Amino acid sequence: MSKKCVFVTGGAGYIGSHCCVELLQADYDVVAIDNFANSRHTGAGEAPALKRVEEITSKKLTFYQCDLLDAEKVNAIFDKHQIDYVIHFAAIKAVGESMQFPLLYYKNNVIGTINLVEAMKAHNVYHMVFSSSCCVYGDPEHLPITEDHPTGNVTNVYGRTKYLIEEMLKDLTHAEPKWNIISLRYFNPVGAHPSGRIGEDPTKNFTNLMPYIAQVALGNKPHINVFGGDYNTPDGTGVRDYIHIMDLASGHVAALNKLSQEHFRYKTYNLGTGEGVSVKQLAAMFERVTGRPVPCLVQPRRLGDIVSMFANASRARQELGWTAQRSLEDMCRDMWRWQTMNPRGYQDDCDAGAAATTGQAALAKAAAVTNGVANGVSNGVSGH
Ligand SMILES: NC(=O)c1ccc[n+]([C@@H]2O[C@H](COP(=O)([O-])OP(=O)(O)OC[C@H]3O[C@@H](n4cnc5c(N)ncnc54)[C@H](O)[C@@H]3O)[C@@H](O)[C@H]2O)c1
Repeated sequence: MSKKCVFVTGGAGYIGSHCCVELLQADYDVVAIDNFANSRHTGAGEAPALKRVEEITSKKLTFYQCDLLDAEKVNAIFDKHQIDYVIHFAAIKAVGESMQFPLLYYKNNVIGTINLVEAMKAHNVYHMVFSSSCCVYGDPEHLPITEDHPTGNVTNVYGRTKYLIEEMLKDLTHAEPKWNIISLRYFNPVGAHPSGRIGEDPTKNFTNLMPYIAQVALGNKPHINVFGGDYNTPDGTGVRDYIHIMDLASGHVAALNKLSQEHFRYKTYNLGTGEGVSVKQLAAMFERVTGRPVPCLVQPRRLGDIVSMFANASRARQELGWTAQRSLEDMCRDMWRWQTMNPRGYQDDCDAGAAATTGQAALAKAAAVTNGVANGVSNGVSGH
């Protein structure tokens, strides 16, 4: 039987790259795209994260530098490949920035998704997994959160783009029976691949807790700021459902299996461990695993912060046959391995790539001069 091919948007990003490992290991072909809005690239338009994915798996994938807002290019890629499934990670996701630049967020995330879905339809591809978020639930009315918890009461623009996309996909699947779409509502993915070769390498100022804790453990920042120490939680600090990135990644393979087995048009699944962990508990575990101090400085509560959020993940267990396997200790250990093995993230690969590109350009220029060709240098931007 020929291999099934998955089109992965945002493949060079944190979750996308880890998911590509799982997909290749599950014997899917992968065609990934990214516009590098929030991921590193070499001067030759390649994604170091995906090069390392190929190393980890000893398998090849196809990558294109492509923006979902460029509908023509997206369609051209669909023309070239026989795609069976789409996993749609590409989005911009900085909550604070989304409040400052709402149109940028609506355009990138919502219009990008419309372009993608139109290209899928034009190419007869109707199976999709969409990266949604627990933020669509807003401030929880009950805990743990089940998928039938009301959605839409979202306080920031980023979260509203996720909610709007979910609603749009639901409408689409109501109107057109061919579609089969799963929205995975992620809780708080953290950690890295256990090899330490790929991990989270944000290009923007990050506000996520785990990368910040790692910076404190490295001695690059003096302490973590804990906003609110007197909440109604076991130790007064905010509670979240942290999930190991490789567990999250395997949830996507489980979702693809489901899409291949059953036609339900539209379904949502929580991907979380089902366990709440406080900020102080996470910092303490990080200290234990690394042997480095992670001081917590309790600050006043922040307006609009959600106190406690954790999943009821039983629908994914029952229907996808998926559960999170890795512990909080695994999350901290793997994150630390990635951080210490790659203190500059993928930057060294980018620098090496830039040097190689400059070297290649010089060689090509010399060859062009030798051959009397005027314009012999290609920038090789679209990857391989
Ligand atoms: N990381 C989390 O905590 C979390 C939680 C819930 C949901 N999500 C969602 O999961 C998905 C992946 O998140 P991530 O943490 O890997 O983020 P990420 O920023 O690391 O990855 C997203 C990738 O998409 C790319 N991208 C953005 N806009 C694009 C466009 N128009 N065309 C092509 N590529 C584009 C970015 O360059 C980036 O590489 C996102 O949709 C995000 O909203 C993430």
